[in-house]
Amino acid sequence: MAENKKISLAELNALPPKEFVRIVGQVFEHSPWIAEIAGEQRPFADFENLQRALCETVKNSSEEKQLALIRAHPDLVGKLALADQLTRESTNEQASAGLTQLTPGEVALFQNQNAAYKNKFGFPFVICARLNKKDAILKGFERRLKNSPAQEIKTALEEIFKIAELRLRDLTQG
Ligand code: GUN
Repeated sequence: MAENKKISLAELNALPPKEFVRIVGQVFEHSPWIAEIAGEQRPFADFENLQRALCETVKNSSEEKQLALIRAHPDLVGKLALADQLTRESTNEQASAGLTQLTPGEVALFQNQNAAYKNKFGFPFVICARLNKKDAILKGFERRLKNSPAQEIKTALEEIFKIAELRLRDLTQG
């Protein structure tokens, strides 16, 4: 639900590199380096090719870079969310999952689960908030807390690709 005018793929393909990164860089939370690398592969024939190039950039990057990307995500119902200090995209994502309408008990539950998850894995719990409501997210915590770190890095990146695809669809036409 971007308020901005949508941009066509032809326009994206023709932008100076800096402008491309300014626009497409927002697709990954605080991580413009992904658009910077993928942008070198322009022109893209269609939306799917652009999305694939962005995701492949992440998959081909070091584990250190992948962890930095995961760690760039705010906690769901975390301190930043409660203080209204999220990016516009993150605010909308958390609201769409119903996370801005929680009871104090639910807020406490999310904070306990965030802490348990971060304590086990050393990075925040990432699930695509626009595709999951509160109960599904809470079930996700329960289930994923049992996973191995390697499984969770893989799952977190898959969720980030879903977040990115929805953000990219918001930005682009067609
Ligand atoms: N942290 C966990 N899930 C999400 C999400 O969907 N969006 C953002 N921005 N941060 C998250």
